[in-house]
Amino acid sequence: MSDARREGLTVLKLGGSVITDKDQPYTVATEQLEQVSETVATHSAGQLVIVHGGGSFGHAAAAAHGVSTTEGTTDAGAITEIHRSMGELNRAVVNCLQDAGMPALPVRPLSMAHRTGTGLSLARLAVDSMLLEGFVPVLHGDVLMHEGTGSTIISGDELVVELATLLDATRVGLCSTVPGVLDDDGVVIEEIATYDAVADVLGESESTDVTGGMAAKVSELLSLSTPAAIFDPAALAEFLDSGEAGTMIR
Ligand code: IPE
Repeated sequence: MSDARREGLTVLKLGGSVITDKDQPYTVATEQLEQVSETVATHSAGQLVIVHGGGSFGHAAAAAHGVSTTEGTTDAGAITEIHRSMGELNRAVVNCLQDAGMPALPVRPLSMAHRTGTGLSLARLAVDSMLLEGFVPVLHGDVLMHEGTGSTIISGDELVVELATLLDATRVGLCSTVPGVLDDDGVVIEEIATYDAVADVLGESESTDVTGGMAAKVSELLSLSTPAAIFDPAALAEFLDSGEAGTMIR
């Protein structure tokens, strides 16, 4: 067993709002992406899987075609356009991580996952063998086949939960633009153990924000047996060093 294997597996999501300019369609937030990549390269230990969101790439393309996690399309051109937009962002992320010295490799969910009536099915072998060979797989929110619906969107958050379970991750981190789950006074809640304890500040759990929203994130992360952290880029090094940052969900 390699040293990396022994130190456990981290699944890290880089939110679309961290790595893209959300107000400018199809624009990478280059400086922020470089900083995040440097921090990952300097502070990560053990095995690492990175998942990134869509930001101004995937969301713009998906909205243009009226596709969401529940609204599907059978238009091959639309599916290709959304997938390519995410491919463009994935290329930028992988390049930047490699420039920072990480052995990052692209993994495209459209070709390795699909939804059935009962949930998400993801082929873990490609990711697992990359990890065993010492690489850092970099996945992303994407379009994917959805039984009976053509193709729908899979969010980076869904992939994180699925990968953490499949690969038996030791820790999960979601790096977004907020420092954690905030209470009514705007103070970061340090720990969440039950949804009920934070239902008031999160609002309805059945959020209409289908690919995200803090309520959806928290309820998905609570279902994991792996502890999860929600934090912003300023706390990324702290998370990678200690596994704890921002709001801990466990
Ligand atoms: C969205 O992924 C992917 C597409 C729209 C294709 P996410 O929902 O995880 O993206 P962010 O992090 O919210 O931008």
